[in-house]
Amino acid sequence: MEAWHRITTLSLLLQVGLLLLLLSAGSSGRPLEKCLGGNSCSPPRPPVVLIPGDLGNQLEAKLDKPSVVHYICYKKTDFFFTLWLNLELLVPVAIDCWIDNIRLIYNRTTHSTSSPPGVDIRVPGFGQTFPLEYLDPSKHSVGIYFFTIVQSLVDWGYTRDDDVRGAPYDWRKAPNENKEYFLALQKMIEEMSEKAGGPVVLIAHSMGNMYTLYFLNQQPQAWKDRYIKAFIALGAPWAGVAKTLRVVTSGDNNRIPVISPLKIRSQQRSAVSTTWLFPYAHSWPKDHVLVQTPTTNYTVLDYKRFYSDIGFEDGWLMRQDTEPLVADLRPPGVAVHCLYGSGVPTMEAFQYSDKFPDEEPTVVFGDGDGTVNLRSAIQCRRWVGKQKQPVTVKALPGNEHVDILLNVTTVSYIKTVLFSP
Ligand SMILES: *[C@@H]1O[C@H](CO)[C@@H](O)[C@H](O)[C@H]1NC(C)=O
Ligand SMILES: *[C@@H]1O[C@H](CO)[C@@H](O)[C@H](O)[C@H]1NC(C)=O
Ligand SMILES: *[C@@H]1O[C@H](CO)[C@@H](O)[C@H](O)[C@H]1NC(C)=O
Repeated sequence: MEAWHRITTLSLLLQVGLLLLLLSAGSSGRPLEKCLGGNSCSPPRPPVVLIPGDLGNQLEAKLDKPSVVHYICYKKTDFFFTLWLNLELLVPVAIDCWIDNIRLIYNRTTHSTSSPPGVDIRVPGFGQTFPLEYLDPSKHSVGIYFFTIVQSLVDWGYTRDDDVRGAPYDWRKAPNENKEYFLALQKMIEEMSEKAGGPVVLIAHSMGNMYTLYFLNQQPQAWKDRYIKAFIALGAPWAGVAKTLRVVTSGDNNRIPVISPLKIRSQQRSAVSTTWLFPYAHSWPKDHVLVQTPTTNYTVLDYKRFYSDIGFEDGWLMRQDTEPLVADLRPPGVAVHCLYGSGVPTMEAFQYSDKFPDEEPTVVFGDGDGTVNLRSAIQCRRWVGKQKQPVTVKALPGNEHVDILLNVTTVSYIKTVLFSP
């Protein structure tokens, strides 16, 4: 972990240095140039920052491990390699090595997580778009993510890694363990805004919206007024996602049949962000049974017992560490455009037999985008009239959780926001 901290600190220092350089070069120089060519000053094209969701950007690993779980696993590598997403690592046997590298270890004293001994994880490409355009660096279309949006921006005159940039992060963790990330994000927004001579538009997907809300809630209003033009929230799980309960109970192989859900469960439990995304009591009915077994019904008020009964006591500590981060859903204090898919069958409850938690449940489906439940996606409505800035809420019926990023209606909506005064 130390090497990782050094890298982050170094890149922070570099960015601060860059910012000072820009400021000392004369902050009014660049914005003024825009007015010299034509008769009037055209409104500047707002820079765009993209904030991805859970599993939504690449992660790399470098190994120097004291031991491995199988003789085929690499013990030591001289280089960083792609840990997510690399489909070659998700096949039988190799997946055991993968799980042992990507899992986190929770420390009950410090209430923080770390990688296993000898595993160094880094997030490649902060400030660039490649780590979130395609999750798989070999660009198999299975990993397509923000590419359509980025390519559209480029077609409208934007330049990758200049006025459209990505803000990838370690999505295994919740915001409380990503403090350096928010500092780097703030610096990048300030730098892009100074360069363009106007505020930035944030476009987030899925859990990236929770990250963005947390970030905006930390910033003074004067900072937001100066640096943020709008926040476009796509498929946001404002009140959590019911599917996370299944993931933590019995694992979820995302319908990849060669992966055993119970095997991948240990890794999935260790990712604090999954527990952070459990349904929230502020929006879920207190009598809605999320998990049902022959002896017990678990609702949004029964998580302590739930974690105990599935044999994952650390989960309750993780939940307590992370639940307050955005649980009050304080308005972001910037113009918000909240777009979400609906009309796609979405898991909302799970029924187990007496083999609980070690079996696949019977699933009850409700409305949503296939991942985020509708009642969670619509919570941005509560901000209407609660902040000075406008709040626009728009359903995109028929859009699946990730497909919403590829849909022409979404893309043209983004264009309207960017090019409106
Ligand atoms: C947890 O962190 C504390 C404080 O840094 C440390 O002393 C302890 O050894 C850690 N526990 C484990 C199990 O690593
Ligand atoms: C759980 O709730 C269902 C209805 O949702 C009810 O039929 C069942 O009896 C309850 N089980 C227990 C153990 O309370
Ligand atoms: C795009 O979204 C719109 C609005 O929800 C929907 O009507 C349309 O079918 C979607 N297009 C595709 C190709 O899914």
